[in-house]
Amino acid sequence: MLSCFSLIAQKKTLTPDLKMKVFIDDLMTKMTLDEKIGQLNLLDAGDIVTGQATNSEIGKKIKEGDVGGLLNIVSVEKIRDVQKVAVEGSRLKIPLIFGMDVIHGYRTIFPIPLAMACTWDMDLIEKSARIAAQEASADGLNWTFSPMVDIARDPRWGRVAEGAGEDAWLGSQIAKAYVQGYQGDDLSKNNTIMACVKHFALYGAAEAGRDYNTVDMSLQKMYEYYLPPYKAAIDAGAGSVMSSFNEINGIPATADKWLMTDLLRKQWGFQGFVVTDYTAINEMIEHGLGKDLKDVSALALNAGIDMDMVGEGFINNAKELVKEGKVTEHTIDAACRRILEAKYKLGLFDDPFRYANDERAKTEIFTPENRKEAGKIAEQAMVLLKNDKMLLPLKQSGTIAFIGPLADNHREMNGTWSSAGEWDKSVSVLEGVKNVAGPLVNAIYAKGCNLITDRTLLKQLSGEASIDSRTDDEMIGEAVATVAKADIVVAVLGEPAEFTGEASSRSELGLPGRQQELLKALLKTGKPVVLVLMNGRPLVLEWENEHVPAILEAWHAGTEAGNAVADILFGNYNPSGKLCMTFPRNVGQIPIYYNHKNTGRPFSPSTPDEKYKSRYMDVSNDPLYPFGYGLSYTNFSYSNLKLDKTSISAPGSIKISVNITNTGRVDGFEVAQLYIRDLVGSITRPVKELKGFQKIFLKAGENKTITFTLTAEDLAFYNDKLEHKAEPGDFKVFVGTNSANVKEATFTLEK
Ligand code: BGC
Repeated sequence: MLSCFSLIAQKKTLTPDLKMKVFIDDLMTKMTLDEKIGQLNLLDAGDIVTGQATNSEIGKKIKEGDVGGLLNIVSVEKIRDVQKVAVEGSRLKIPLIFGMDVIHGYRTIFPIPLAMACTWDMDLIEKSARIAAQEASADGLNWTFSPMVDIARDPRWGRVAEGAGEDAWLGSQIAKAYVQGYQGDDLSKNNTIMACVKHFALYGAAEAGRDYNTVDMSLQKMYEYYLPPYKAAIDAGAGSVMSSFNEINGIPATADKWLMTDLLRKQWGFQGFVVTDYTAINEMIEHGLGKDLKDVSALALNAGIDMDMVGEGFINNAKELVKEGKVTEHTIDAACRRILEAKYKLGLFDDPFRYANDERAKTEIFTPENRKEAGKIAEQAMVLLKNDKMLLPLKQSGTIAFIGPLADNHREMNGTWSSAGEWDKSVSVLEGVKNVAGPLVNAIYAKGCNLITDRTLLKQLSGEASIDSRTDDEMIGEAVATVAKADIVVAVLGEPAEFTGEASSRSELGLPGRQQELLKALLKTGKPVVLVLMNGRPLVLEWENEHVPAILEAWHAGTEAGNAVADILFGNYNPSGKLCMTFPRNVGQIPIYYNHKNTGRPFSPSTPDEKYKSRYMDVSNDPLYPFGYGLSYTNFSYSNLKLDKTSISAPGSIKISVNITNTGRVDGFEVAQLYIRDLVGSITRPVKELKGFQKIFLKAGENKTITFTLTAEDLAFYNDKLEHKAEPGDFKVFVGTNSANVKEATFTLEK
């Protein structure tokens, strides 16, 4: 034990890490086993009411030293109250950590993460996370349960809205951008918050897209297609990780020692702490892994879980488990230390109230600058899916009918997981049109039909969507009558926000309710129809694609949704979003993704009648809109694909250049994408793999040559022994505007 004097003398000369160690060593010597276990307990703020923290049930537990942190508590006032209980009322005065799902913005809401990924713009994504952190920390929070980096190939899963789509390479860049945005360069600053990478692991691969469902996957597939974004977030310094609900190959993630300790800590060197998902420990009883909460708590602790979210398995059982020798005290110490380290890094021991600042809460949240940034991101996230005969952009003149349950809607704009966002302050499309075009456009409106009509379905939603008192037939009739007065029709249709996010899996992916019938009625009027879609997942749009001349995928785009849609409709912003997830033609094609294998009997479109091929008899293998797809109001032509050499050998690299010309009449962004195919491997390789992209701005008529560099390392993959190696042989390289429309060349990787 160090004397007080030598401790002070030492502290002056120590590195920050050692200083932290000395501080925590000292604190932990004072802690009882109960107090250590208390740090592992994360509770939902539930019953805490402003001014009554001390007397609440949770307040009592905090005083006892039985709570390490709280989630879902909003406002400086409440957080200050509760923190006071911890640092004034508990024996060791250890501050609490405060977490929340700040997923795509705090009060200023950005597009849902799936949409943000369609910007292919890492600076914008990082900026959105920076703003989210700034606002959340100004309101007292210091920890967010984001980013969700689960790769997903199945749009039936409602949580695809929360992730970055289907590609591990793109997903990894995005994971890093979020972590950097939230955490900045110094976690102890009062405007940065700790990230929590979730859901570890493979939650996005739930069978049949049904939430919480089973995952069974080869290690090779995991390492190559699903794990990289978690690793990227950890390499970027994410302070915490959340375990997932699903089982993996028979073991729920929350009890998976291989996952939580061998992979995460030993292989990847993760130094932060692991929290479970909401009651994930308790749920392992239902999974059939243990007979009671004590059993499953032991499994979680021994697997390497540090903090128990809400289930109170650790707080009620850990001491006994230690006494019985089923969990070592060392395991509890290690978990407690990691949580204390997180608090230390956040600066909470220096000042437990550093995030509770009334002035910041008043001035830094929902500012005009933040809203402007949200608008910019919303514009860049939207994807133009179809634009026959350049129907878009619209002229700012005449009468335009805005029809549909989402045309003048505020509630659904913010999308899933936006609980701190005030939906009534979001901008509807009709308002956006008025803001952008003012008196130049006579904008008329009819709701047209309900967003959903099925009352049983409505019961599953928490009352956010509502059913109109008029019948859909009446509303369709009114819409048709409104359209009669207009020159052009903009139908704004889609999904309620609550059709996506957690526990929102769907088995049919068309427009819900009678929206397609409404669309048919609008088209029947003979007026030109533009379809604006607001949804949180790839939908099945084959009919719409066949019949509607122009389609804009606007997603659930957040606070500034309406302004962004209006700017795109009138050509103030030239759409540049590119899909980060494939849109299927029908549900039967799912799972469908661009980086599939070739099979031994690949289907060839040039011999469409061949039977014994890997194909469907009743639908083509191609998706409706491929990964990377998105149109612009201009055209970009690719030419002169050149490689600087025909072969490389490690550690060399190859340069791939291509010329891109903006051949249209307006300026715009293009996302040029680079893919490879390894033609022969020791295990089979996908038909394409994304390995790079560049988002460039080209003025009308301008052309630019862009250059990508591929190293031998970029060609590496996990072989059947899980070695990450590039194998000599021939490669194809593709560059183009999306994963299906590319130019190609070949090169060789020499031994
Ligand atoms: C979700 C997590 C979320 C947590 C806390 C869970 O139900 O799966 O993504 O972070 O709740 O709100």
